[in-house]
Amino acid sequence: MNPPSFSKLPILIKPFLLSLFLSIFFLVFLSTQSPLLRLKTTTNPPSNGSAGGLRIRRGYTSYNAYIERQLNKTLNPKLRKIWTTRDWDRKIRVFAGVFQSLKQRKLILNESKALSIGARVGQEVAAMKMVGVSDAVGIDLVPYPPLVMKGDFHAQPFRNQTFDFEFSNVFDHALYPWKFVGEIERTLKPGGVCVLHVAVARQTDKFSANDLYSVQPLLELFKESELLEVRKVDAFGLDTEVVFRKKKINPY
Ligand SMILES: *[C@@H]1O[C@H](CO)[C@@H](O)[C@H](O)[C@H]1NC(C)=O
Ligand SMILES: *[C@@H]1O[C@H](CO)[C@@H](O)[C@H](O)[C@H]1NC(C)=O
Ligand SMILES: *[C@@H]1O[C@H](CO)[C@@H](O)[C@H](O)[C@H]1NC(C)=O
Ligand SMILES: *[C@@H]1O[C@H](CO)[C@@H](O)[C@H](O)[C@H]1NC(C)=O
Repeated sequence: MNPPSFSKLPILIKPFLLSLFLSIFFLVFLSTQSPLLRLKTTTNPPSNGSAGGLRIRRGYTSYNAYIERQLNKTLNPKLRKIWTTRDWDRKIRVFAGVFQSLKQRKLILNESKALSIGARVGQEVAAMKMVGVSDAVGIDLVPYPPLVMKGDFHAQPFRNQTFDFEFSNVFDHALYPWKFVGEIERTLKPGGVCVLHVAVARQTDKFSANDLYSVQPLLELFKESELLEVRKVDAFGLDTEVVFRKKKINPY
């Protein structure tokens, strides 16, 4: 009886090893082509590292040029007219729904001291008051008394730990998103809630200063807060509601 010849083994092993290498190579190739990874590499725009998925639009030569452009929209007499007349009731109705829902989730209370950031003519502020949040105010570059006072969201005119609740749907207008968020965290009381309405992965308007491709950059920007909720909404072209709570214990 002939035992299997050992000299034959290498010949059998060679094709085996070859196909093993080929399949490993093929698997590695496949993994780089998987939709998940592809999405990650193509949707991450150039960023400065701290916040992938957030792109600051180019074209502002200075902070003043940026402010001027923002003022151009805010001061546009035609727009202001529409905001205070035709738009008013419809916006208040939608915002009242937003704040009512936040009340049901105990994220804003009647006794909350509340701020609306980039409030224009103050529809959100009026809506907060309508649902029972009486201590509410807005800030914008152009004041609209008594609902909206003058204030730049890059340098809020308030002392540290002033508010229980802050709302904004103008994150995309921030030239310096880290300052926008830093100011929210500075002026929120510990345990205070911030609600942002943002557009994810779609063009906002020509006055936008940044584009957001996912909520991930927000998680990185809100350094002193925890994420409570991310929900789909349909709010004037903005599709995502993100809720943060400022942590109670300052880690530093
Ligand atoms: C990048 O982000 C950091 C804060 O996260 C900021 O201080 C810095 O100025 C930004 N750099 C550019 C080029 O936008
Ligand atoms: C402001 O808007 C007007 C008219 O829409 C335009 O002519 C002007 O150049 C704008 N100014 C700035 C600083 O964008
Ligand atoms: C909040 O205020 C509204 C309107 O003033 C009132 O109807 C409601 O009962 C209040 N809710 C609570 C929990 O106090
Ligand atoms: C306010 O908060 C900022 C940032 O958290 C901090 O650097 C600053 O010292 C605080 N100011 C006061 C007066 O506590």
